Amino acid sequence: MTKINDVMTLENEGDIAVLSLNSPPVNALSAPVREGIFEGVKAAIADTSVKAIVLICEGRTFIAGADITEFGKKPVGPSLFEAQDMIENSSKPVIAAIHGTALGGGLEVALTCHYRVAVPSAKCGLPEVNLGLLPGAGGTQRLPRIVGPEAALQMMVTGAHVPAPVCLKTGLVDSLAEEGALRAGAVAFAQKVLSDGLPLKKVRDSNEKVEAARGKPEIFSDFRKSIARKTRGFLAPEYNIQCIEAAVNLPFDEGVAVERKLFGELVTGEQSAAQRHVFFAERQVWKIPGIDKDIPLIPINKVGIIGAGTMGGGISMNFANAGIPVVIVERDQAPLDRGLGVIRKNYENTAAKGRISADDVETRTGLISGSTDMNALADCDLIIEAVFENMDVKQDIFRKLDEICKEGAILATNTSALDINEIASVVKRPEAVIGLHFFSPANVMRLLEVVRADKTSDTVIATSMALAKRIKKIAALVGVCPGFVGNRILAQRQREAQKLILEGAMPWDVDKVLFDFGLPMGPFAMSDLAGLDLGWQADKSNSSTIREVLCEMDRRGQKTSAGFYDYDENRKSTPSPVVAKIIEEFSEKHQIKRREVSQEEIFERCVYPMINEGVKILEEGKAIRASDIDIVWINGYGWPVYRGGPMHYGEKVIGLDKVLAKMKEFEKTLGPDFKPAALLEDMVAQGKSFAQMGY
Ligand code: 3HC
Ligand code: NAI
Repeated sequence: MTKINDVMTLENEGDIAVLSLNSPPVNALSAPVREGIFEGVKAAIADTSVKAIVLICEGRTFIAGADITEFGKKPVGPSLFEAQDMIENSSKPVIAAIHGTALGGGLEVALTCHYRVAVPSAKCGLPEVNLGLLPGAGGTQRLPRIVGPEAALQMMVTGAHVPAPVCLKTGLVDSLAEEGALRAGAVAFAQKVLSDGLPLKKVRDSNEKVEAARGKPEIFSDFRKSIARKTRGFLAPEYNIQCIEAAVNLPFDEGVAVERKLFGELVTGEQSAAQRHVFFAERQVWKIPGIDKDIPLIPINKVGIIGAGTMGGGISMNFANAGIPVVIVERDQAPLDRGLGVIRKNYENTAAKGRISADDVETRTGLISGSTDMNALADCDLIIEAVFENMDVKQDIFRKLDEICKEGAILATNTSALDINEIASVVKRPEAVIGLHFFSPANVMRLLEVVRADKTSDTVIATSMALAKRIKKIAALVGVCPGFVGNRILAQRQREAQKLILEGAMPWDVDKVLFDFGLPMGPFAMSDLAGLDLGWQADKSNSSTIREVLCEMDRRGQKTSAGFYDYDENRKSTPSPVVAKIIEEFSEKHQIKRREVSQEEIFERCVYPMINEGVKILEEGKAIRASDIDIVWINGYGWPVYRGGPMHYGEKVIGLDKVLAKMKEFEKTLGPDFKPAALLEDMVAQGKSFAQMGY
């Protein structure tokens, strides 16, 4: 065996050279990996006893792409293109042997090999779009030449990881090897290439599929239409499409030139920087400093839910979907039956859309049982309380749980605003109490705030985080404070939105600014969707807010076809002249002089206090890292991924110094709502970033 460099070895099996790459965790194309490929293939070509070359990887996966941490840094060693040229122009056939995932630059390397062999469990993809990029190493030109432009559009714009058996059908993979015997399978394939005298197939020269699509611009226009809603605001999907158009309409080298130009624009742009930030944030968020990652976890084999209302039902579905039995406890049979009925209906609707089978409906509903007796919770490993938002009711339930539940069980609450320490104070085992704050609809929304109370044990925290992964949520560990992280930040925006409409803006002006920024909807459209009467009490209503006035007029949102907006029969909204008049009169009555409010002011008033609040949250230790706050806002509130989350946006796009200056200016003119966080002042004074401050 010859060592090429620290990550690459070369071993001859007869006349087949096996180049084996080992660069954990995912064999990303760092400088040593590129060097290993370049020098390894060169050495195998130079060895006259070698007739064919197999490129295989050790560890969990084939090359999973470019090394994302290297973007923006000065490249060293051979470039990826030089390594690819060495393979593609080799006088001896090179066969890629794929297991795990061949992604991005990894698949692009495999596409310069003359043949590709994979195990059935392997997957191939060009997921650069998810990082705000496009495949920048010839992938945009080679992939459509193998699978055709339509399949390439799907793969590159969704970033899908395509299973090897499907790749075999599209021609992306030439042969499947037996699971667990990839090396032997790839070597045997190489021998067959030699014995059958198969040609040195270069994907770049295969033009049939792209030529067939020439003169059919509808392939692209139809595709653009089909993705428009989902990809609103993102640059990368459109750039990927343009590259495939170039593959269809231009010779290979000219297509590559288009790819390089567009890749260059994306990789240096704000969107990709934000999306790369999110990629790492999504991985960081699971890491809890001070808790050993190998800490023993509490086995969760049965879950109890208290309350079969909006949240209890949705939460139960998460566990049933993951195959975990659930018992729901209600106070009476009627709400229990209603709750179980809603769950079944939800599953049936999903089945009607073809997303799950009729059998799945039965299996999942079969995992959910109901009871009106709290003793049914005695054998549960985790109990989540989701009853009315009332401290007395919740404390009463926790007292009972303390008596009923087995030792070691986790006692969780889904409260959205109550003090979890106060809830924990009524039990003899406060270390077992934790907040599991799901977002509505709980069976759909990915975010889970795991709320650590003062006495919550490390085991309970670690088990909750692991369980979140099992039920396919993304969890952020936060501390107890009003609104926790997500709603606490939201409250800042909501307050300003309400003030702005009294000062001169209209609800649709505010909504437009936030919608154009990339949020799925603004605060007023959101209120109309949720229902303006959520928490409204008719008997106590005295026209003290715009919302009260609207509810009193039975303008309770989309459900009454009227709220801040008017709605037609298709739920399409239009600004309401009635509401405009109500707001103007309200301002007058409260002696608020209306004025022109600019879009810029709307944005700054709504967003800067959110960033400031995020800094306060860090200062108080209620979130571990700035990027955890970004995860909360992206997954719980629809902050656009391509803007990286409020903390990333504040730091990297606006600049914390500008946020601070604006907060100070607003504090002078608009009062203490805009008081800057002490930590923000410190950071700006010291010129430090969140990372440099240890956040
Ligand atoms: N570069 C640098 N680090 C990477 C990486 C990459 N391309 N891919 C993964 N990592 C790191 C992760 O940050 C993580 O680090 P950590 O342990 O310190 O947190 C570690 O590798 C393991 O990753 P995961 O936790 O994600 O491991 P999984 O086993 O769950 O998933 C994977 C493996 C499917 C390969 C997943 O990591 C993944 O999707 N990676 C990114 C793939 C990708 O986007 N490739 C395209 C890159 S851009 C490109 O190639 C440009 C080219 O066209 C020029
Ligand atoms: P809901 O009113 O829809 O459901 C509450 C259910 O609890 C009712 O079915 C009620 O009969 C039942 N219940 C009340 N007392 C009970 C008792 N002693 N024993 C058993 N069952 C009892 O309320 P929702 O919206 O599901 O909220 C539940 C909790 O989740 C609240 O704490 C709320 O703050 C929180 N939450 C709500 C969100 C939302 O968007 N609705 C989002 C996140 C958290």
